[in-house]
Amino acid sequence: MIQPQQITPPMSAERAREIAATFDLRALPADFLANPFPVYALLREHEPVRRMPDGSLFLTRHADLMAVYRDAAVFSSDKHVEFAPKYGVGSPLYEHHTTSLVFNDPPLHTRVRKLIMGALTRRAIADMEPGLVTLVDQLLDRIEAQGGGDLVEDFASAIPVEIIGNLLGVPHADRGPLRDWSLAILGALEPVPTPEQHAAGNRSVTEMLAYLRTLVAARRQAPGDPERDVLTRLIQGEASGEKLSEVELLQNCIFLLNAGHETTTNLIGNGLILMQEFPAQRKQLLADLRTAGTDEAAREQVLTLAVDECLRFESSNQLGNRRALTAATVGGVALDAGALVTLCIGAANRDPAVYDQPETLNLRREGNKHLAFGFGIHQCAGLSLARLEGRIAIGRFLARFPRFELSAPPVRGGRARFRGFLSAPFRTA
Ligand code: HEM
Repeated sequence: MIQPQQITPPMSAERAREIAATFDLRALPADFLANPFPVYALLREHEPVRRMPDGSLFLTRHADLMAVYRDAAVFSSDKHVEFAPKYGVGSPLYEHHTTSLVFNDPPLHTRVRKLIMGALTRRAIADMEPGLVTLVDQLLDRIEAQGGGDLVEDFASAIPVEIIGNLLGVPHADRGPLRDWSLAILGALEPVPTPEQHAAGNRSVTEMLAYLRTLVAARRQAPGDPERDVLTRLIQGEASGEKLSEVELLQNCIFLLNAGHETTTNLIGNGLILMQEFPAQRKQLLADLRTAGTDEAAREQVLTLAVDECLRFESSNQLGNRRALTAATVGGVALDAGALVTLCIGAANRDPAVYDQPETLNLRREGNKHLAFGFGIHQCAGLSLARLEGRIAIGRFLARFPRFELSAPPVRGGRARFRGFLSAPFRTA
């Protein structure tokens, strides 16, 4: 069984300062990914605006991340400058990432976001709930028949692929390669991707583009309901006549398919593995759900708090990036125009200045202002959908298998940016 996460071990003040003062995201210690939180705590305390050897800054305080998120005019999301040396101008990864809304500033960002948000309305998301419940129950039936399985392979990763596939109207028969494409394209965002990660990412963008061209052509022939169908909405553009170019359309479809995929898989996988790591919390959550009984609103409230705490404690997306367009100051440190900034969501989410007992998982935590979905103009466009998936998946899994246990140590994805597991074998009881 996994031991509860360790808080910063006892060490001399000198050693603590040294660890913070030598932190380099491009040269992480071997044991960092298993538990980065003690290092984040040292950074927050001793080097909250850490200037790394490549000159970029690594921010770990909640208030500093908020200041950057709030000032989108100074802190740009546009990655043309940063990604040119990383991927090579004209490479599939470069074209993809520099055209997606998340890595652009207004006006492209605003145009695409408006179209996506128009289809992700509260009603549209509520309409997805019955299908989601059916899907989750079918997965649970299969797991029950086998007496267990793999939390990630057989459950967590099987949910977002269907939800996002439905959102864009990808036929079921075509969904097979979506997960691998997504893992490869987002994997290339690692601080220092390997040559294999570069190659797999480029190949996946090319394959995905080819696939989406045929999907878009078919949808142009037979449009869906633009109130519900994101792809039809992106194709048709706004009523005002503002349309996306073909490249903008295809690249943002790729982004959308990827954005809601690994992140949500990791929310569900991390959440369930936390239940195993913190048995007292699991017990309390099960008791709260029993008390809520058949009162759907009460159950939703209990699960909403639990899901948000899982997101705070083990954020699927640990890092974000911005570039200062002009000279600026963050956390009292002056930055030159052009400075690159890494926002460490995982560290900000455990900032003692904001959270009571931040290193403790508390599934009843109220007023949880975590930054797992970012903040400001780029705040996750799919957050309500992700929360719904988390509630239904974790809630129904626990209701069916309240005493499930891992049967072997879970295997980490091995990435600094996206935090989650590749596999986690378990028994239902
Ligand atoms: C637990 C699941 C998820 C997490 C942790 C997550 C996290 C994030 C974060 C941190 C950002 C902001 C990036 C930045 O500021 O640079 C973001 C943006 C975005 N996410 Fe999510 N996400 C999740 C699920 C989803 C889902 C299900 C969808 C799709 C339906 C989605 C669609 C998007 C989009 C379109 C953006 C770009 C928004 C913009 O640039 O305006 N995400 N997400």
